[in-house]
Amino acid sequence: MKLLVTGGAGYVGSHCVRELCSAGHEVVVFDNLSAGHPQAVDAKATLVEGDLADEQLVDRTLASGGFDGLMHFAASLDVGESVREPLKYYDNNAINTIRLLQAMQRHEVHRLVFSSTCATYGTPPSVPITEDMPQIPINPYGHTKLAMEWAMRDSAEAWNLGACCLRYFNASGASADGWIGEDHDPESHLIPLILQVALGQREQISIFGVDYPTRDGSCVRDYIHVEDLGVVHRLAIESQQPGKFRYYNVGTGVGNSVKQVIDAAREVTAHDIPATPSPRRVGDPAELYADPTKIMAELGWKPKYTDIVDTMRTAWQWHKDHPEGFA
Ligand code: UFG
Repeated sequence: MKLLVTGGAGYVGSHCVRELCSAGHEVVVFDNLSAGHPQAVDAKATLVEGDLADEQLVDRTLASGGFDGLMHFAASLDVGESVREPLKYYDNNAINTIRLLQAMQRHEVHRLVFSSTCATYGTPPSVPITEDMPQIPINPYGHTKLAMEWAMRDSAEAWNLGACCLRYFNASGASADGWIGEDHDPESHLIPLILQVALGQREQISIFGVDYPTRDGSCVRDYIHVEDLGVVHRLAIESQQPGKFRYYNVGTGVGNSVKQVIDAAREVTAHDIPATPSPRRVGDPAELYADPTKIMAELGWKPKYTDIVDTMRTAWQWHKDHPEGFA
């Protein structure tokens, strides 16, 4: 297939591009490089540097022809920032996505895989989270992602768009061969921050909340390996039919607490990793992990990484070899 991948230079996007290229697909990456890294883009892919707000460039790129489908990763993704600057999220995640859908309609591209998020569920009534639970986001990031799921569902009815919304949990890890990994600026994600402590770049890691009603008082999340996400995206686009709207939770089905993640890092790095109990972070639900039964049954997918120690090992290899990230 010939595929356009927005945000293909970012963390999850670049791992998916590698998976697509190694499966023989022809990939054009569209990325404004505000958060992505050109070095992360597979050499077999073509990189178009541009912003989704540039309608003419999006049009010209799609007009270059022959696209069978599109994967849409490009988005702002910091939940806390979305609370402080909601309009940035409505602009980047909602308006730009609507423009992209309009361009797909104009150019008759009818297959889409969309990076959605478990944040669309807000605080779920129970765990593990199944797809039929109510979607009631609790922050602007989740609102914009959910609104775009609706736009895609309505487009499937109205103009035969085929869309698969992948609601993923906490993307983590790095490529097994150590070639690409996680590099955000500023970094806010738990695993890279912990590994910065092991590298001596930061003194300690704060545990945001130790009084949650969980097994050890710290928050529980589902850490899904980024290469497993790559395989899911490939299977989703390969099986996507025009006019069909699908949605799946993408996680391991295993929850790990912040303290367990820190312990895994201690085991892998052989570093003490001092950790300090700290106040809760606003907007953090106590426990989020997926029930991945639906995607496993319908796409025939199974996560390769289900043990946080194995995921941590790949992340550590990347951070150890790239202490300054892609720089
Ligand atoms: N945490 C700490 N200390 C830190 C950083 C994080 O204890 O210094 C905790 C958080 O409170 C949370 C867990 O580690 O319980 C994971 O936090 P991350 O910031 O790594 O990830 P989030 O779960 O907040 O966010 C991720 C994605 C979002 C997505 C969200 C869905 O980054 O894009 O999952 O819940 F929306």
